Amino acid sequence: MIDTVFDAESGALTADDLDPLIDLEAEISRVRREKNAVILAHYYQDPDIQDIADFVGDSLDLSRKAAETDADIIAFCGVKFMAEGAKILNPGKTVVLPDREAGCSLEDSCQPDDFKAFRDAHPDHTAITYINCSAEVKALSDIIVTSSNAAAIIDQIPKDQPILFAPDKHLGAFLRRKTGRDMTLWPGTCIVHEQFNERELVKLATRHPDAKITAHPECPESILRHADHIGSTRSILEFVTTENASEFIVATEQHLMHQMQKAAPDRTFIAAPGADGGCDCANCPFMALNSLEKLYLAMVNEAPRIEIPEDLRTGALAPLQRMLDMSPLKPPARNAA
Ligand code: 13P
Ligand code: SF4
Repeated sequence: MIDTVFDAESGALTADDLDPLIDLEAEISRVRREKNAVILAHYYQDPDIQDIADFVGDSLDLSRKAAETDADIIAFCGVKFMAEGAKILNPGKTVVLPDREAGCSLEDSCQPDDFKAFRDAHPDHTAITYINCSAEVKALSDIIVTSSNAAAIIDQIPKDQPILFAPDKHLGAFLRRKTGRDMTLWPGTCIVHEQFNERELVKLATRHPDAKITAHPECPESILRHADHIGSTRSILEFVTTENASEFIVATEQHLMHQMQKAAPDRTFIAAPGADGGCDCANCPFMALNSLEKLYLAMVNEAPRIEIPEDLRTGALAPLQRMLDMSPLKPPARNAA
């Protein structure tokens, strides 16, 4: 596995060097201005990171934003595969990730050698791969998709063309049902979405009979079968702010609720429960590694930095660009503020 995240050189500013009274928001804004940087953040980041970002979005929106930015530095507040995506699209820009350990269980589940063997065992199949994977797995794929555009892209593949889908088996099973295509699935899962519990969800819904249930397609079918709406993080946000209801049960990572509460403060959002009936399980431990302090240090040090060997980058660019070309119409931009 190629390590694409490089640490700071010795002599870099560390957390120990920081004045405990530093105004991190003000300092981040200053460095952003001085270095012509843009801060992109996923909806699963802490609220303080979402609030300081130039743009907050789902995986597809963030890829599009990374493709069109004219900033010199992209500070990517998300996980490694997202920052790698920004670098693949912008080889001439500096891309930093606040915490180099911010990975993803789906990426971990799909190692390049194993994925290559999977492909080699199905030589006549088109490999459609969820964006939650390494640059190496992207380079071994035909088309990348996100949960926003996967069904629309699969619908463009000729009906008689067999398909491999990796690495999320729950998203793959959902897409099978939605598109009617018999795809061969890789057995990966998201450790966050897999923890929602059907029995507890039904009990919660019984106590809130008017609540609409919305879920991310990384959830297992046992959860999705109860949902009134299934979609990407942005689609969930749109549903809960436009649907004619005042109470929603939300089955995705809990930090998306920050944007929900900002956009619709008069509505009630309830986190879908885990096995113990609580909602702490809906917290991505990888996203949680990033912090305002690490974002500041990353912008000052320009590290941890994403660096991808050029042959790997061009290999991964082709299926990623195919995704952008095959995606349905570009949605309106959504700003953090
Ligand atoms: P989206 O924001 O594209 O729905 O993806 C969710 C996710 O799990 C990102 O890691
Ligand atoms: Fe990966 Fe799941 Fe975390 Fe998203 S929420 S980054 S899919 S582990």
